[in-house]
Amino acid sequence: MKVQFGISRVELVQGDISQQQIDAIVNAANPELSGGGGVDGAIHRVAGPSVLEETRARYPLGCPAGDAVVSAPGMAKAKFLFHAVGPVWRGGQQREAELLRSCVRRCLELAVKYNCEGIAFPAISTGAYRFPVDLAAESSLGEVRTFFAGLTTPLMVRFVLFDAGTYGAFARVLESFVNR
Ligand code: APR
Repeated sequence: MKVQFGISRVELVQGDISQQQIDAIVNAANPELSGGGGVDGAIHRVAGPSVLEETRARYPLGCPAGDAVVSAPGMAKAKFLFHAVGPVWRGGQQREAELLRSCVRRCLELAVKYNCEGIAFPAISTGAYRFPVDLAAESSLGEVRTFFAGLTTPLMVRFVLFDAGTYGAFARVLESFVNR
């Protein structure tokens, strides 16, 4: 599914984010930037050990939830990796939506800073961090649409969703934006 918003575009695809060929790939990282399972495991397996070495050296204090940091891509087919730290879902009253929006925004800001034409996101926080997928789709896609409004150069944002259920949730929200 592809939707144009002015000069920019959102694409949804089902697949494995670690295999994407695009300027920037977003990792669903943890605050220690220590690697993990899910998206984090897949990306580090493809990228190789240089990425953990780099993030350990450059970001010894890690990265708080709601923020993102950049590294080289290692052997991933991208120019940059952005390591975004989403919130752990704790029922919805602990600023979870705000923190999810914030880490998405930080990645979009990094994409502009590094002159990226395209950036691929996973469904941050919806796996090990248990954020309800419908709400995550609303926050993540909503933040992208808000960010697009302030852009003067085109940006392509691709969400790479692992399973059909997550794809469907994102597609329903994106569809609803077309008519809002
Ligand atoms: N490509 C795309 N999506 C994937 C992939 C993949 N290779 N593997 C898993 N997913 C999906 C999951 O199904 C889920 O919908 O990505 C979404 C996010 O899941 P997680 O990777 O578990 O990310 P998150 O919920 O943000 O949890 C982050 O998990 O791996 C650890 O170190 C990481 O502690 C951090 C936590």
